[in-house]
Amino acid sequence: MTTPTIPPLRLGIAGLGTVGVGVVKIVRQKASLLAQRTGRAVVISAVSARARDKDRGVSLSNYAWEDDPVALAKRDDVDVFVELMGGEDGPAKDAIEAALACGKDVVTANKALLAHHGQALAETAEAAGNVIRFEAAVAGGIPVIKSLTEGLAGNDITRVMGVMNGTCNYILTRMQDAGLPYDEVFAEADALGYLEADPNLDVGGIDAGHKLSLLSSIAFGTKVNFDGVELEGIQRITIEDIRQAEDLGYKIKLLGVAQMTGRGLEQRMTPCLVPADSPLGQLKGGTNMVVIEGDAVEQVVLRGPGAGEGPTASAVLGDICDIARGFRLSTFGVPAGELKQAAAAQSNSPAPFYLHLSLEDRPGALAKIATALGEHGISIDRMRQTRHSDTQAPVLIVTHKTQRNAVDGAIDAMMKTGVMATAPVALRIETV
Ligand code: HSE
Repeated sequence: MTTPTIPPLRLGIAGLGTVGVGVVKIVRQKASLLAQRTGRAVVISAVSARARDKDRGVSLSNYAWEDDPVALAKRDDVDVFVELMGGEDGPAKDAIEAALACGKDVVTANKALLAHHGQALAETAEAAGNVIRFEAAVAGGIPVIKSLTEGLAGNDITRVMGVMNGTCNYILTRMQDAGLPYDEVFAEADALGYLEADPNLDVGGIDAGHKLSLLSSIAFGTKVNFDGVELEGIQRITIEDIRQAEDLGYKIKLLGVAQMTGRGLEQRMTPCLVPADSPLGQLKGGTNMVVIEGDAVEQVVLRGPGAGEGPTASAVLGDICDIARGFRLSTFGVPAGELKQAAAAQSNSPAPFYLHLSLEDRPGALAKIATALGEHGISIDRMRQTRHSDTQAPVLIVTHKTQRNAVDGAIDAMMKTGVMATAPVALRIETV
């Protein structure tokens, strides 16, 4: 090994939860490996968290302590501010802005913050010649940002898809495997500590939507547009839907899809049916998967852990090592000032839809539904009426390709017919 001749890279770590502790452990345990790989020592100068005295299972005695992350970000002995606190605004944003104002590089795992403020932060950083890196913000341990910005840099990216919330994938696959209802599996996920402090971030699709908006920006060279992501959570998925989808040869996944179309940038994070035998269909538990399609490479499938101490710390260390090596990359892969404003597509690409309706079981009910579909230009491909009770008839319809807004229009019309027992479930069938 050659002795490093350049000064150590000095880290200030704000946030000592699961990920922060994971980063501290790797920096301590792999000091010599990191120095070999980057050509310089990587050291921790100072740390910050809410509770100083908490036992975190790792010694912090060699590091200066700051109660205030902003003070940590401003320290003279910190070169890289590592933000692992989370939160869309508040202390995380204040501290990152303080670090950038002092000319420091930033590594963060904060998808919510970047989805909302990424463009402004990138402009600030790049104007001063600093970098913001965020591999850990998207799909945990999967090096998807590195893949897009480096390995696939010679491609026009045509589509990015993925399962990027492990909690939702855990809930859906557990419902499927154990035949348990959503509420019961949600309670299990809560007991296992899988859910975010605000569970709606997970099951409402918001966390995964944040991640998709960041990948879209990198893939298509556009300004982050989280508000342009069509979002739908998994809360209304029933075990019945999962079984019916299975019967048709599909699995239900909370799937993110981003593609640039002639109609604008299409970004969706919605529960979809995907072929059961596809890599996405076979994905189990908390694992994440990102599928990237490019004009030259065709298709790349990345699979790995989407959360947890080791995987997320691994992604943070990848960014730190790049900075230690002197590798400077624009935040979203091209200079922030050159990112295009992408108009959100007003209508999505056509696809077949799965409809699960519950009808009042009386003469003419089905005819009214068929009329509502027909009047919205929707053609039925397959239909099945199963296990009806004395008063209600569950009806499953697979449509030919249609638009989401046509489906929504037909559902509005159905709800006015007086024959719907409950609001229907409508899920896109995605070609993957
Ligand atoms: N809650 C996320 C998940 C991990 O379940 O994948 C952090 O984004």
